[in-house]
Amino acid sequence: MRDTNGHVPRPRFHFTPERNWMNDPNGLVYDRGLWHLYFQYNPEGTDWGNMSWGHATSPDLRHWTEHEVALRYRDGEQVFSGSVVATPADGETDASLLTAFYTSAYDDDHQAQSLATSRDGGYTWHSDPQNPVVDRGTSAFRDPKVIRVTDADGAPLWVMLTVEADDRQVLFFSSPDLRLWKHVSTFGPLGETGVVWECPDLVPLAVDGDPDDVRWVLLLSTNPVGDDPDPDGSSMHYVVGSFDGAVFRSDAAGLTRLDHGRDFYAGVTFDSAPGGEAVMLAWMSNWRYAAAFPSSPWRGAMSLPRRLSLRSVDGEVRLVQHPMGFVGEMLAGAVPSTVFGATSPAEFTLSGHSLVELAWDPAGTGTLRVQFRGYADALVELRHDPSSNVLSVTRRGAAMEAVHPDFPATSTVELPDNGDRPLRLLMSLDGPLLEVFACDGEATISNLVVLGAGPVATTLATELHGPFSLTVAEPHDAEGRASPALSAALG
Ligand code: FRU
Repeated sequence: MRDTNGHVPRPRFHFTPERNWMNDPNGLVYDRGLWHLYFQYNPEGTDWGNMSWGHATSPDLRHWTEHEVALRYRDGEQVFSGSVVATPADGETDASLLTAFYTSAYDDDHQAQSLATSRDGGYTWHSDPQNPVVDRGTSAFRDPKVIRVTDADGAPLWVMLTVEADDRQVLFFSSPDLRLWKHVSTFGPLGETGVVWECPDLVPLAVDGDPDDVRWVLLLSTNPVGDDPDPDGSSMHYVVGSFDGAVFRSDAAGLTRLDHGRDFYAGVTFDSAPGGEAVMLAWMSNWRYAAAFPSSPWRGAMSLPRRLSLRSVDGEVRLVQHPMGFVGEMLAGAVPSTVFGATSPAEFTLSGHSLVELAWDPAGTGTLRVQFRGYADALVELRHDPSSNVLSVTRRGAAMEAVHPDFPATSTVELPDNGDRPLRLLMSLDGPLLEVFACDGEATISNLVVLGAGPVATTLATELHGPFSLTVAEPHDAEGRASPALSAALG
């Protein structure tokens, strides 16, 4: 019997807390060989509340160890989203000094930015007696992200981005010492109304790797509010522009969608990542139905870590996202199969914690469809239509409907013109987390799915006879070989 109450398998190569509620990634910092992930966390339950910073570390962004809660809510004050920066500690110790900036969300509806420090590598924290350190006396002033820049004269400077969420504005503050902050500029409002702006970040990236053409990319999350909020819910956007240490100037008129799925929110980057790379994690859910997602005893998952870059595509500068390290390594170790389409669909079984890479020439294959089915009464269908060049991911069926009336959905993105090159897709399916990277990271669609327990029956069908190449890796299989089920099905 197919189940509609959707057992949700725990992801195996994404971070989930052992138990309880999690939303945004916070305080992402790389320090002395460890990636630190703090996160919005309710230490006491599977619903949002008692917001605190949970903590996990990883040597490789794949295997995570969860630690004690780092910053705990107090009577009258919750600890909302923010960031951490690492600086050299003075004195004898070889530990870094870690400084966290978080929003103190007081029970009287007042939000302001506070500071805490850690001298033991991020495990124990001391809130500053001077808190809050930035306070405007307003009620939706939050999500401090501190970055390091050099000012117009080449002197090092700290910059804090925060939002006035209801005003759809990003406020920039600067400081020489992380303690005294001066308001230097405001960006926004612009774009869609009827949303709040949350979780800003700002990263410098070279266009096509050219160090002489560095642009600044503002990252932003928006969430519908008000009487008749958009049922699509939360989403992430970016703006490419320039930054002089005080003022951000956009190159374009509006916000560009960062991920075209329903479940990629509050993404921010790590401080001090090796090689100065921009590595982002996001929360894979949507405020529209996050509280209804039927996982237990945990609720909330992080995305794959993604390395950000800028590429000129079709005459515009586009943000490109690549899954980090281990994903590529796993696929590189797997053996691709070439399959001819149309006569009958290719059928194979995935563990449901799998990486799949596909390459095909739409001129030879026509429309391409991939379907995933687990034990639940539900279907995920990915489809590429060559006439429109639109890629879509649909989740439907009774088990999806049971999550929330707005959960069944089709996410679409028009792919950039690929010329004569084959199209390439990387799909990561890890329990309920489906992330699709198209055209070498130029478009992404990230969605929660409810396929139920057990293996995932997969079919791949094309309209015409043209061949496609298929590579499957099962990351928990030590060598990342093509799974035996796949080899058997393809003979
Ligand atoms: C974004 C957000 C932030 C806030 C936090 C509270 O998802 O609403 O603006 O700091 O979550 O948990």
